[in-house]
Amino acid sequence: MGGLPRRATFIQREIADGIPTLILDSGNLFSETPPTEAGLTQTMRKARLVLRAMERMGYQAAAIGEFDLYLGRDNLAELVQSTDIHFLSANIRKADGSPAFTPSVIIAAGGTRVGIFGLTSREVDISLMEKRAPGLWVDDPLKAASEIVPDLRKRCDLVIALTHIGYRQDRLLAEVGGGVDVIIGGRSKTWLKSPQEVGATLVTSGYFQGRAVGSLLLDLGPGHDGWAIGRRIDYLKRQIEGRRLQRGGGGDEELERELEELLSKTRYEGDMISLTSSFPDDPEIAGMIREYRLSLKEEAVGKVYEEVTDAGRDRYIGTDTCIDCHRGRVEFWKGTDHATAIESLRPLEADADPDCLPCHVTGYLQPTGYSPALPREDLLGVQCEACHGMASLHASSPKLYRLIRTPKATMCRTCHTPEQDDDFDFLRDRGLVCSE
Ligand code: HEC
Ligand code: HEC
Ligand code: HEC
Ligand code: HEC
Repeated sequence: MGGLPRRATFIQREIADGIPTLILDSGNLFSETPPTEAGLTQTMRKARLVLRAMERMGYQAAAIGEFDLYLGRDNLAELVQSTDIHFLSANIRKADGSPAFTPSVIIAAGGTRVGIFGLTSREVDISLMEKRAPGLWVDDPLKAASEIVPDLRKRCDLVIALTHIGYRQDRLLAEVGGGVDVIIGGRSKTWLKSPQEVGATLVTSGYFQGRAVGSLLLDLGPGHDGWAIGRRIDYLKRQIEGRRLQRGGGGDEELERELEELLSKTRYEGDMISLTSSFPDDPEIAGMIREYRLSLKEEAVGKVYEEVTDAGRDRYIGTDTCIDCHRGRVEFWKGTDHATAIESLRPLEADADPDCLPCHVTGYLQPTGYSPALPREDLLGVQCEACHGMASLHASSPKLYRLIRTPKATMCRTCHTPEQDDDFDFLRDRGLVCSE
């Protein structure tokens, strides 16, 4: 969700040139991990926000991914019915075999009729499906495609498969032929800088967490007969022109033949753009996220909390209790970014957002740890106990109850994930976090 305001800016810049544009997503829109039972209500709140943001950005269609199904059959139906964005899957079926969602849609882009159908991965968690989406099952995507494409082919100028089946399956879909012009794929986190030509089909792949956007520019003429990559056309033109100047006359026949052949095809240019900070946040979408987070905070304030106490067990007690015996380490820690990690969330109003808290507080959702239902002031930031473990027993009898002496790299990486910190280096960084 953090990437939405940048994505909005990107999309606005792209559509500003007036070229008819389709804005599509290949699924798993609402969560990056399967939503848990306890987190469903919160995930749905976020889902509604994400959907409103996608509407503002102008999205027209999205494939349904398996995580979308895990939101629950009724929950997903509620989202799908509340929006004009087409949520597509040709292979999620009801018990009787009929499609459970809209399989395909035809959208006019400029003068072109574009047929788009959705495909969902069969690699679903069966028990989760039974619980969340009873009565639904996922059919073979390639079979579903072979059933739906011929009809779309007849009615449309361009057929797009919007898939959430992974790159390998996407390639299979392209290899069997069958009339799909373009596959906009997702699910496998495959980074394709440029689309792949597989037979008569262009295969693209979306990245994950909305950290990059793919753009595909098609120069559709009256008839479509094969693909020609723009780079190659431009290269050939330059070469031929260069040779002509050199020889003061004819170019190169072989190159000219190739150019002629390519010019009879549909020119395409594909790119994958990382949404780095060079794309400023779109103020409207950033504002929507801010409002959502403020409402999370307001709710947190109004509640009455009851602390989970369990006298026998260890508990989180906060850094203040360590000071009597570890003054040096506490003073050192106070000077680190860990001590002030909650401050980074405040300007974004994200200090009650369950998407952000786990790594910016101590003991998130663990017994006696920080939770939105028990927002303990003394557990804000990444404290000693985030790395060394609960310490109430240790603080009362240090010799009897030992803590983790040297936290491992894997522990750091629960927060310093590649997504959050792509140049984390344990050997370099561990010396910076704890000292006397
Ligand atoms: C509970 C989550 C969490 C754990 C566990 C954690 N960190 Fe961090 N770390 C953070 C957060 C969040 C920040 C950013 C704080 C800020 O500026 O808001 C951070 C910042 C840092 C920084 C300073 C910023 C930078 O990249 O230079 C270093 C160094 C660091 N952590 C190293 C470590 C090491 C080493 C470990 C393991 C021994 C570790 N962290 C464990 C969450 C964590
Ligand atoms: C999986 C753990 C994790 C989650 C979840 C997480 N962060 Fe962080 N965050 C980190 C770590 C680790 C760092 C330090 C990274 C570094 O210094 O390179 C950090 C740093 C930051 C910083 C400081 C960046 C800087 O350049 O100083 C901000 C701001 C921030 N996070 C905001 C957020 C927001 C907003 C969310 C929720 C949308 C969030 N974080 C969710 C782990 C996390
Ligand atoms: C980001 C993770 C992190 C935080 C936060 C942290 N420590 Fe540490 N601590 C470590 C690591 C890693 C080591 C081992 C240091 C080394 O390898 O030099 C360590 C070592 C120690 C040791 C020495 C263990 C020994 O070798 O005898 C003590 C004591 C200690 N920490 C106490 C604290 C206290 C008290 C706090 C809070 C004020 C704190 N730590 C906060 C990661 C952390
Ligand atoms: C009453 C004094 C006291 C308090 C309070 C205390 N410690 Fe300790 N701590 C010690 C002593 C003494 C040792 C060294 C034990 C030894 O090496 O025999 C120690 C050792 C440690 C170690 C090294 C691992 C181990 O268990 O030997 C860590 C880590 C640590 N303390 C963290 C903390 C943290 C975090 C807090 C606060 C939540 C804290 N301590 C509170 C006295 C205390």
